[in-house]
Amino acid sequence: MREIFKLSFFLIIFFVSSAYSYSTDLLNIDNNFNYPEEFEEFSGGEGTVKVNNKNSFSLPMKNLRADQKIDFLIGNGLFKREWIPAPSIKTSSDGLGPFFNASSCQGCHIKDGRGHPPNLTLDFDDSISMVFHLSIPPQTEDDVNSLNSYQIKSIDDPMYGGQLSDFAIDDLLPEGQIEINYEFIPLAFDNGTVVKLSKPIYSIKELNYGDLHPNIQISARVAQPMIGLGLIQSIDPNDILANQDPDDENNDSVSGVANIVWDYSSNNTNIGLFGWKAAQPSIRQQSADAFHNDMGLSSAHYPNGSNCTEKQTECNQFENGNDLNNDFELSSGQIDLIEFYSSHLAVPARRDHDNEKVLAGKKIFYESGCTSCHTPKFITAKSNYSSALSEQLIWPYSDFLLHDMGDGLADESNAFKASGREWRTQPLWGIGLTETVNGHTKFLHDGRANNLLEAILWHGGEAESSKQKILKLSVEQVENLIKFIESL
Ligand code: HEC
Ligand code: HEC
Repeated sequence: MREIFKLSFFLIIFFVSSAYSYSTDLLNIDNNFNYPEEFEEFSGGEGTVKVNNKNSFSLPMKNLRADQKIDFLIGNGLFKREWIPAPSIKTSSDGLGPFFNASSCQGCHIKDGRGHPPNLTLDFDDSISMVFHLSIPPQTEDDVNSLNSYQIKSIDDPMYGGQLSDFAIDDLLPEGQIEINYEFIPLAFDNGTVVKLSKPIYSIKELNYGDLHPNIQISARVAQPMIGLGLIQSIDPNDILANQDPDDENNDSVSGVANIVWDYSSNNTNIGLFGWKAAQPSIRQQSADAFHNDMGLSSAHYPNGSNCTEKQTECNQFENGNDLNNDFELSSGQIDLIEFYSSHLAVPARRDHDNEKVLAGKKIFYESGCTSCHTPKFITAKSNYSSALSEQLIWPYSDFLLHDMGDGLADESNAFKASGREWRTQPLWGIGLTETVNGHTKFLHDGRANNLLEAILWHGGEAESSKQKILKLSVEQVENLIKFIESL
């Protein structure tokens, strides 16, 4: 009986959702900026939520079925769970470390939003939601071959591995602490306004396991917002690849290529979608990677229950949290739940999308070439994974491709195909709610921009001509552009 009920429920949902199929005509760019476009208010399709408060990034998609909402809630519990070191009587939550960066996903993805660089004016350690990736140039022919076959992202530091851990369980010293100094760079608009950009200079202090490799490369990253990720994953990869223009054949000085990364689920290469350098192919792999690298928890594709390198002998002596009847600290069911949760956080609706100034700002955004990378809209493919993600008209404002962003934003670290200068276009949906949710306006991969205008002014490389257009705007035009981005 229950099965029949379930089946008819699915059929109803199927017919209801297929009735909503969008026409691809909706993907045409409307060059009339006097009024909003159809559906533009609903950035995340039918799952969009209209909530304008601290919880704006934490809600399930509005179009989830009742049974899916339960999985979402259980997944949320895992996302917030505080892991503790093994052994512990709470076997379901143990296995943290020995090294770690945070003890829960939520510790970095604060309120499902973004992290921030440490606030230097505080006297307690506030560096938790930022991580330092570590790498070195290839040392051997084997290194070069592994990189060329996309089997590894980059070459790890021999002692410290691929990420600096600034925490460790009791009885073990953490690897080291991150240190940031800022240099100020003035930039003048034609209209006379001068903005001082803060350029971070990174180093590592209090190293407890000897020197880093002499050619160490550091890449600092803050945690990204968690909204709309399942929708991104549901875009047909061909629609993303269609926007690639490696030789800039359309002569707009913007090229754009997809990252090529290793996918553990197929044991083969795939296109990269997630992370600031698009170094992860899927939400599932990014999440399992976070469990392992950020918290030291194992799962099927990350079987090692500790995140020590071979050379860290002391670290390797600690117990892991594997259950007797389970090979890994996290079962595949738990990874399913975290994947489900991370795939279904709703995108908030636009605010003031029909306001005159916002529309004037939208026109500037389009006319300044921002949309060459910040692609306004996609229609997601039919999803076998979740009907909520299927065939949705979405407005992420990203092409999910890598772009050379110039020297200013570059670090020395590569990640698969992405060079130090290349970054994935960050989606802009929800960006205007950052202050409401996270209480700050620190943008870009390492949170160096103190507000939206600074984020734009850091653009260089392929985005240089776009930035030059912005520097020629009047004060009022700049205000309108910012109002538009704040409405996203
Ligand atoms: C120590 C801080 C930290 C913790 C803990 C953490 N993350 Fe992240 N997360 C990050 C950073 C930093 C990035 C960007 C990674 C990059 O660019 O390489 C990120 C990116 C992501 C992304 C990709 C988002 C996008 O827009 O591409 C997902 C998904 C994600 N994390 C899920 C999780 C899950 C699930 C957990 C818990 C298992 C978790 N994270 C724990 C810091 C953290
Ligand atoms: C060549 C491609 C390209 C163009 C053109 C471009 N952007 Fe970006 N944008 C990016 C990339 C890549 C990032 C992420 C860079 C980083 O984090 O270091 C980004 C980040 C941003 C961010 C910060 C996002 C965040 O969540 O931190 C804002 C705001 C932004 N762009 C606005 C604009 C505006 C406005 C324009 C037009 C004046 C523009 N962009 C033009 C590629 C581009």
